[in-house]
Amino acid sequence: MAKVLIINGPNLNLLGVREPGIYGSASFESYLDNLREAYPQVELSYFQSNVEGVLIDKLQEEGFSADGIILNAGAYTHTSVALQDCIRSLPSPVVEVHISNVFRREEFRHHSYLSPVCAGVICGFGLDSYRLALEALLARASS
Ligand code: DQA
Repeated sequence: MAKVLIINGPNLNLLGVREPGIYGSASFESYLDNLREAYPQVELSYFQSNVEGVLIDKLQEEGFSADGIILNAGAYTHTSVALQDCIRSLPSPVVEVHISNVFRREEFRHHSYLSPVCAGVICGFGLDSYRLALEALLARASS
């Protein structure tokens, strides 16, 4: 069974409540239930933290054994050299995900420290961005 981990970074624990015009009104937990139901062949685990070092600890813990990691690092995407160094060190492929289309938003969101070391980037499709990332990881694993 494929082992995939979804990691959400800062403020993404507020999905469904936070700026619903941008991020939607569904909680991540309810979305995750649907995703698990749709992909029974995947062992899908989930982790969220608002703390940069805790995200790095989790990536290091799982990134040597997971078949793939789906990472929405939130605002750390645009600031974190430490997360870039961490992802660069891991054998597991990491897909960078954003719910919103960051390129239609403020200029400071247009740069990602993570994209150059990720297997790919998906953004702008709402919560469906996570499913698309999962599809990409599964396709990559079976090719
Ligand atoms: C986000 C986009 C980031 O710019 C922002 O800081 C977030 C969420 C997204 O999913 O669209 O926290 O990663």
